[in-house]
Amino acid sequence: MNFYYAPMEGITLYPLRNIHRKVFGEGVDRYYTPFLTASHTHHFKNREKKDVLPDRNISFDNYEEEIVPQIMAANAGNFLWAAQEMKKLGYKRVNLNLGCPAPTVVNRHKGAGLLCDTPYLDAMLDGIFNEAEGKDIYPEISLKTRLGFTDPSEAEELMRIYASYPLKELIIHARVREDYYSGSPRLEDFKRAVATYRKCGGGADICYNGDVTSAKSFEYIYKELCTGADKASETDGSKTCGITSVMIGRGLLSDPSLVRQLKGGEALSAEELRTYLKCLYEDYAQFIPEDRNVIFKLLEHWTFLYRHFASCDRHLKAIRKSRSRAEYHAAVNNIFAECEFVPVTDSSC
Ligand SMILES: Cc1cc2nc3c(=O)[nH]c(=O)nc-3n(C[C@H](O)[C@H](O)[C@H](O)COP(=O)(O)O)c2cc1C
Repeated sequence: MNFYYAPMEGITLYPLRNIHRKVFGEGVDRYYTPFLTASHTHHFKNREKKDVLPDRNISFDNYEEEIVPQIMAANAGNFLWAAQEMKKLGYKRVNLNLGCPAPTVVNRHKGAGLLCDTPYLDAMLDGIFNEAEGKDIYPEISLKTRLGFTDPSEAEELMRIYASYPLKELIIHARVREDYYSGSPRLEDFKRAVATYRKCGGGADICYNGDVTSAKSFEYIYKELCTGADKASETDGSKTCGITSVMIGRGLLSDPSLVRQLKGGEALSAEELRTYLKCLYEDYAQFIPEDRNVIFKLLEHWTFLYRHFASCDRHLKAIRKSRSRAEYHAAVNNIFAECEFVPVTDSSC
């Protein structure tokens, strides 16, 4: 089983990727970048381009294999232009975003917005794969989709469409757009979708995504996906319940050692969490000028990490209220010194 770090806009950018790899080693098999917008101007925004430059991704000897740029596009031409740019930078793979639920994206016929116009989506994929198939100027193309826009029954038609293109990988977030990121992942619908995909002849590797937050939740989800999975995987003969990889987003923000644990390794230690936080501060401080704004960035991480400290409300409040580097570090030192460290949390099980 391969494990991927999910794309998360504004969060899983190169500083986080570099530090995660440096502190937690090589457990994560691939890191997906937050989406880069492929606009009609055929120019990336500076900060998006910077995120994929090889010399920014310094922790990765094999960035071409280990990092997958994700592209958001409203038509085949824009996607193909962006994919070709990524190939020029050396990337072996790119991923098309078919899942972003934000109204500003959906209303522009992008992200999950494409899921509710299946004739258009089909034509767009046809334009992409007809042009790219067999041509060395393009990287390998994968899709990241949801089960539908409003209802998971829509997955049947989506899977039929996906099965007619030569994808290498299909990542399925087990929710529909209207779920955004809440509610339980729809495991039964996920299984049905994979079965439909296979029945229609789809040969891509399948990646599961949604709410893997701990070894315990992984065990539960995997067991559910395997129940009756013989049907889903009988055509591909796999022994992995029809899936070959798992993508994790919020779970890795909450416990950056999660993939190591899923691969049989140690739980998070207080010392490595401390190093991780210290490195993140130093890296963000290199390109964010004001202490206060660096602290805001770190607070995004604390929103997920606070659960590793028992009875620490007072100290968390101090972290949130800190305004300078010195105040922030003093508050962080206090939390590590005075609160009980909880290596494994099972908040969402
Ligand atoms: C803050 C945030 C930003 C996200 N940005 C992206 C993105 O740029 N591209 C994408 O495909 N998914 C994005 N996602 C969705 C995640 O990649 C993932 O599908 C979702 O969080 C479910 O997985 P999880 O339960 O493991 O977090 C984002 C999710 C969050 C919470």
